[in-house]
Amino acid sequence: MKFWIAFILATLAVGTSAQCPNCATMKWATCDGSPCQCKLQLSDDMKQQLNCSALIPKCFLMKAEMHRAITGQSTRTGGKPVESAFVDNDGIYDPDCETTGAFRAKQCNNTDTCWCVNSAGVRRTDKGDKNLKCDKLVETYWVRLQLTHKEVSNPVDANQLKTAISSAIQLRYNISSNLVTDVDYDPKARMIVVDVKKEMTDRNTDLSRMAYYMEKDVKILPLFYDQATFTPVVNGQQLNMENILVYYVDVDPPTFTMKKLTGGIIAVIVVVILAVLAGLVVLFLARRRDQQKYSKAEPRELNDM
Ligand SMILES: *[C@@H]1O[C@H](CO)[C@@H](O)[C@H](O)[C@H]1NC(C)=O
Ligand SMILES: *[C@@H]1O[C@H](CO)[C@@H](O)[C@H](O)[C@H]1NC(C)=O
Ligand SMILES: *[C@@H]1O[C@H](CO)[C@@H](O)[C@H](O)[C@H]1NC(C)=O
Repeated sequence: MKFWIAFILATLAVGTSAQCPNCATMKWATCDGSPCQCKLQLSDDMKQQLNCSALIPKCFLMKAEMHRAITGQSTRTGGKPVESAFVDNDGIYDPDCETTGAFRAKQCNNTDTCWCVNSAGVRRTDKGDKNLKCDKLVETYWVRLQLTHKEVSNPVDANQLKTAISSAIQLRYNISSNLVTDVDYDPKARMIVVDVKKEMTDRNTDLSRMAYYMEKDVKILPLFYDQATFTPVVNGQQLNMENILVYYVDVDPPTFTMKKLTGGIIAVIVVVILAVLAGLVVLFLARRRDQQKYSKAEPRELNDM
């Protein structure tokens, strides 16, 4: 009798877990029920239902990652394009998400420290207190992915690179290859600079998900269930990536005080001061030379007299 109960329970357990397929785009999701639903634990009391046919919104992913980190579960998973581009120096925080998975424009760090983010959840203002105002969520319409690939045996054909990269991006992240507008290659640095740019008014394509999934693919472990990696193939040769840096360009430039900018201003001031000093020195020397001429001339004039 006991054996049969155990047997039936075991088959039931196997049955339910086998009924639901895994969530292709989120390895931490649990899928069960009928119809099957895949859910992701965002906090102790919050489970988010997922659409596993699409990339999961970055805000949900970051929240789940923070929750896993806090509860001791494993989370392992070439320059600016324009002057207003910036990188994510803050890294991960526990974000506030809209029900759609979009980031709330204003984010706070437990304490009274708040800041405004773009649609990729990256800080774009100075940090302030609770009274900080963030009018709206500013859209990131352009990301520059600065990828470094591992050593390869044959030289990479730069002319084939754009096609290889854009089709790999479309295949893995379901971002139309038309949005890959530029691919530059520096063979010495093994660096591939990829610009992914959408129309400034487009609010359907979410570049932040693609960038986040790619960062995980390259730097840590994929968020996808299948654990494959991002490996474009150029002329039959696989390109394995070893590093990535992401620049974000928003439809409005960020408003934080850029440290580099202050450095630039200081440099300009120094140059101006140096120029003024040089001018003064030249003037001084010229006047001295005139005086010397004058005093040398004087005796002759006296003699003449
Ligand atoms: C899930 O995502 C796919 C791909 O973007 C989309 O076609 C589909 O409508 C979405 N399903 C739901 C229930 O939102
Ligand atoms: C890929 O994206 C397109 C357009 O954004 C969408 O219609 C389609 O459902 C997506 N497919 C998958 C498998 O996510
Ligand atoms: C938020 O707090 C965490 C931990 O206290 C810190 O590592 C992170 O840099 C902070 N983020 C911001 C944007 O202040």
